[in-house]
Amino acid sequence: MATSRNISATVSWLTSVGRRRTTTRPERAARAGLALLDAIVQLNQQPGHAQLSARVGIDSGLVVIGQGAGNEAEVFGDAPNIAARVQAIAAPDTIAITDATHRLVSGLFVVEDCGAQELKGIDRPLRLYRVVRPSGMRGRFPAMAAMRGMTPFVGREDELRSLLNRWERVRDGEGQVVTIIGEAGIGKSRLVQRFREELAATPYTWLECATAPFFQNTPFYAVADMLQQSFQWEVSHTVEQRLDALEASLGLAGLDPDEAVPLIAPLLELAVGTRYPPLSMAPDQQRKRLLATLVGWTFGVAKTQPLVIATEDLHWADPSTLELIQLLVEQGAPARLLLLYTSRPEFHAPWPMRAHHTQINLNRLTTRNVRTMVAQVAAKIALSDETVATVVERTGGVPLFVEELTRAVLESGDAKLTGREIPATLHDSLMARLDRLGPAKEVIQAGAVIGSEFSYELLRAVHPIGEAALQAALRKLADAELLYVRGIAPDATYQFKHALIRDAAYEALLKSRRKDLHLLVARTIEEKFPAVKEIPRFSPATGRRRAKPNGRSPNGQGQDRLPRRAMHSRRPSKAMARL
Ligand SMILES: Nc1ncnc2c1ncn2[C@@H]1O[C@H](COP(=O)(O)OP(=O)(O)OP(=O)(O)O)[C@@H](O)[C@H]1O
Ligand SMILES: [Mg+2]
Repeated sequence: MATSRNISATVSWLTSVGRRRTTTRPERAARAGLALLDAIVQLNQQPGHAQLSARVGIDSGLVVIGQGAGNEAEVFGDAPNIAARVQAIAAPDTIAITDATHRLVSGLFVVEDCGAQELKGIDRPLRLYRVVRPSGMRGRFPAMAAMRGMTPFVGREDELRSLLNRWERVRDGEGQVVTIIGEAGIGKSRLVQRFREELAATPYTWLECATAPFFQNTPFYAVADMLQQSFQWEVSHTVEQRLDALEASLGLAGLDPDEAVPLIAPLLELAVGTRYPPLSMAPDQQRKRLLATLVGWTFGVAKTQPLVIATEDLHWADPSTLELIQLLVEQGAPARLLLLYTSRPEFHAPWPMRAHHTQINLNRLTTRNVRTMVAQVAAKIALSDETVATVVERTGGVPLFVEELTRAVLESGDAKLTGREIPATLHDSLMARLDRLGPAKEVIQAGAVIGSEFSYELLRAVHPIGEAALQAALRKLADAELLYVRGIAPDATYQFKHALIRDAAYEALLKSRRKDLHLLVARTIEEKFPAVKEIPRFSPATGRRRAKPNGRSPNGQGQDRLPRRAMHSRRPSKAMARL
């Protein structure tokens, strides 16, 4: 709701009630509020224009829409009323949001905590926040999408407590470095997500750095990805608009754009044209200055509000990204900065442990936790004690295995483990799952050859079966939770739920068939997706341009079912690497 002097307007972002509720509406409401205030500033600058001011109040909650007395649609529920009250006490030209809204947009905006406020007509005090500007964090779609399909979180109390203790220190101005180490599928990413949920009540900025196995030789791959999140670049933005955003962000972090832009722009493949003179320093010197600038930018961002930089899978980080990480790790102690890393055990940090560093080794889940997980995965079918005991024994407390093996039991139809039917290892259990897919198995295998993510168009070109059969197979794969899907075929993209699933599908191919498929993928990319080679931001696997940083794809479809990494391939996929 917004008012200016004597104008009052209510805008409601209505979300369907039920399972498919989306959580992007509060974010859009806050962004619309910021855009509205910006527009008013522009209007006020016009000569002779009456000076306007506006207040915006936002609350989130369930409402019922029904027919009112005058046959008009009316909205029933607390949220519109609360939003009106919040708006009424907001300072002019500001956006105030309630705690309920803040929880849904936490991390996405720089906010000021306004404390608990008494609102007229509302029986309890409400905690309010002022939205200052976007924090630079990418949309929450990936996390929320992933959450939807996830088993409820179990265990890890000590690890979570340890993370929250470190966070308290960060908030007090003591920078911290936490590295979560554990084998594949043990729950590192899940713990990071769980931790993030805990932060929802306090102002913070969350940035993610994405490493990937096939970008290990792309300098600053992960850093470039993180910077783009922060600068809020969109696919439709011109070079000028990108430069503007870059300059604004650097300025906010206290850096001089004249010095910083020429250093950072090449990293982002951004042509500065005549706006900045070309750099005349030696490459070595330039690299040093770039690293110093990136460190300065990070600390500048952390000054505004506590900052978390979550970098997953350090074992895949390229050397340049690691160099920056090392500088941050060594110099981060005095900043409100939490450097949160995950890695598999094979990674050995090149930096020595310091007092502000913590290593969390993730062990296997306890038997009790595994039992809880099994019960949750098999929520609708009660498994026999014997079956549960076998799952506990065979999965060895690795949550990924627990999920997969339990699902395999459920998919087998008789909901119990008997004889050799359920294999002893995850690999075997995945093979068994694949075998049960029928014709969809070949589809997932063709997808596995393309890479961890693939577009419908590319898959169809590689595995040319009838549209109806292909779509039915893909639906089956999504229903079996083997693939995440975004969009509607033929304009859809898919991602394997886990690398192990893709590897299993890939391994199950005969070598000769694998070779043929690789050749076919290469030829198809060559013939039908030639832009892959020329446009660095183009994803060969998805066959489309990168999604906009706000989580919308260029064609306007939301990406709320696809993990973020799926949308951001910048170089040929692993399949290409294998060619
Ligand atoms: N504590 C937990 N409670 C419930 N489910 C969990 C828990 N930990 C992990 N899982 C589930 O197990 C699966 C694997 O977890 P996750 O992806 O976090 O592993 P990982 O250690 O990050 O693996 P990788 O090294 O391959 O990235 C996920 O589906 C996740 O939701
Ligand atoms: Mg992980």
